[in-house]
Amino acid sequence: MTMQKITAQAIRAMKGRQKVAALTAYDYPSAKLLDEAGVPLILVGDSLGMVVLGYPDTTHVTMADMEHHVRAAARAQPKGLLAADLPYRSYETAAAAVQNSRKLIEAGAAAVKAEGGRSILEQVTAITRAGIPFIGHLGMLPQHVLEEGGYKRKGKTPAERESLVADASALAEAGAFAIVLELVQAEVAAEITTRVPVPSIGIGSGTGCDGQILVTHDLIGMFPWFTPKFVKPRVQCAEEIKSAVTAWMQSL
Ligand code: KIV
Repeated sequence: MTMQKITAQAIRAMKGRQKVAALTAYDYPSAKLLDEAGVPLILVGDSLGMVVLGYPDTTHVTMADMEHHVRAAARAQPKGLLAADLPYRSYETAAAAVQNSRKLIEAGAAAVKAEGGRSILEQVTAITRAGIPFIGHLGMLPQHVLEEGGYKRKGKTPAERESLVADASALAEAGAFAIVLELVQAEVAAEITTRVPVPSIGIGSGTGCDGQILVTHDLIGMFPWFTPKFVKPRVQCAEEIKSAVTAWMQSL
């Protein structure tokens, strides 16, 4: 019997019917576990730069890193849609955006995500015209952390609110099938949710979104050196690992 894979259209159609649960995975076992738990949208996020590769931020992540981790996650052959981040500076032109999106698809992703709204519209349009399913990412944009001097919440002023709503509408019009809203004021995220026809997937943006995404390491307490304020880990994996290792050493 062939397994029915979850498509970008199926994720889009969840709007108004079912909350979209999304989590990150960067390798075979994590993608397989999330899939066995029934996660419909699995992202090989460039957050791997911090939680797996030990960099201070995502600006160090390369296409080679992304392709390597997408290949590993794709070997799990998840039923859930496997999406991948276009890393820092990999989509500066429409041609580069399409070429690098194709590389991620060849590595096993079924969709790509990039950060920005109207400023990258040419790239988004080129990606969707090439037939590659695309997820938008608005609000706090981690790849811009150095220019912005930190991870800053967005949508606090009327100008930021208007700009976010316009960016979200432009992305949906350009063919994005979902839009991640990161650290957006809850009321602005809720407004975007009612105004765009595709699912909004929030992270630190309140409960009024069509879905939620988290970095799995934050959810399971696997990166205890930093946990975002909006995440309550459901399990403390780092502590469990240390206890198991200590108990084993004491048993020698
Ligand atoms: O890189 C990432 O993991 C992300 C999500 C947390 C939205 O972009």
